Amino acid sequence: MISVSAPGKLFVAGEYAVVEPGQPAVLVAVDRYLTVHLRESVEAGTVHSPEYGRLPLVWRRDGDGVAIDVEHHPYDYVMSVITLVERLRAERGVAPRFFDLRIDSQLDDASGRKFGLGSSAAVTVATVRALDEFYGLGLTRRQAFQLALLATVRVAPTASGGDLAASTFGGWIRYSAPDRARLRARLDDGVAVGDLLVDDEAWAGLDLRRLTPPASLRLLVGWTGSPASTERLVDQVQRRHRAGAYDQDVFLAESRDCVDALTAALDAGDDEAAAAALRSARGVIRRLGDATGLAIETDGLSTLADVAEAAGAAGKSSGAGGGDCGIVLAPDTADVGRIMQGWEAHDIRHLAISVHPDAGGV
Ligand code: PMV
Repeated sequence: MISVSAPGKLFVAGEYAVVEPGQPAVLVAVDRYLTVHLRESVEAGTVHSPEYGRLPLVWRRDGDGVAIDVEHHPYDYVMSVITLVERLRAERGVAPRFFDLRIDSQLDDASGRKFGLGSSAAVTVATVRALDEFYGLGLTRRQAFQLALLATVRVAPTASGGDLAASTFGGWIRYSAPDRARLRARLDDGVAVGDLLVDDEAWAGLDLRRLTPPASLRLLVGWTGSPASTERLVDQVQRRHRAGAYDQDVFLAESRDCVDALTAALDAGDDEAAAAALRSARGVIRRLGDATGLAIETDGLSTLADVAEAAGAAGKSSGAGGGDCGIVLAPDTADVGRIMQGWEAHDIRHLAISVHPDAGGV
């Protein structure tokens, strides 16, 4: 049996802008995990998770491809990975075998509600790494990330892949995405997956940088308890952009400035400057919400961040917003006890989460 765990993640800054190739964001991997268990099977394969317990998915081989028994199912990302890995396996002349996958997740609460910690990314990364081990494909960590991104663009074409980067490489990371539409077109054209992984030109725009915050800077995570849909919000923001609701160039420039300021502050070990950069990043996201009329920073997230600011820290929505989690960067001088009390008074749950360490490969 092969078991591979991948960490969840939180966006720190640069959301929405990062879907544009080359635009930076900062993310952090967290110590909550999704685990994929893989066991060889005799014929056909199944995918199973406690969350969708009554819906085990059965898949078979169909010529060079993979056929599944149901049309709509909650395992899109897993099936996209299996399809691509089978393609790579065939290219490398590795003999096919069947396997069963079981998914266990800590990225939701006891009743199965998601925290918004990147479960789709974690299941994609963990499945790639489990299959890499199963077939002995010898992927580097970077190639495992690339394969995870290729699998993702077929399911969610606009997704930046920042969450995959955090889940693959761990720790704090600065990330810019390649042009996923181009990568997808290459895949659809039937390019060899192995060739695409080493084609540097196809990955132009992809940039990964390890960040190391000072020990004095604390990361706090609050959960508003209301679920959010990243896909819906990203789609609506893009519609508003096409309708001219806001100036995209200004938004991208402002977002980049915040990410650069945060990067510089972390490099310099300056926790106050890091908090200041996060406050600016909050402003950029709030202006995007105002211009588009979308509840990116919901009332719950506003309270979460206001409480942090009043205690000398900085807070903002994380990821697409609309609910889920908010993050706080608290410098040494901030009153963390006051933040906890304020959150409790407003029904915001503090999640006892720490950073998942740097896993190497960047
Ligand atoms: O809501 P999350 O945590 O999945 O993050 C979405 C971040 C966006 O920048 C809005 C979209 C993306 O794919 O990067």
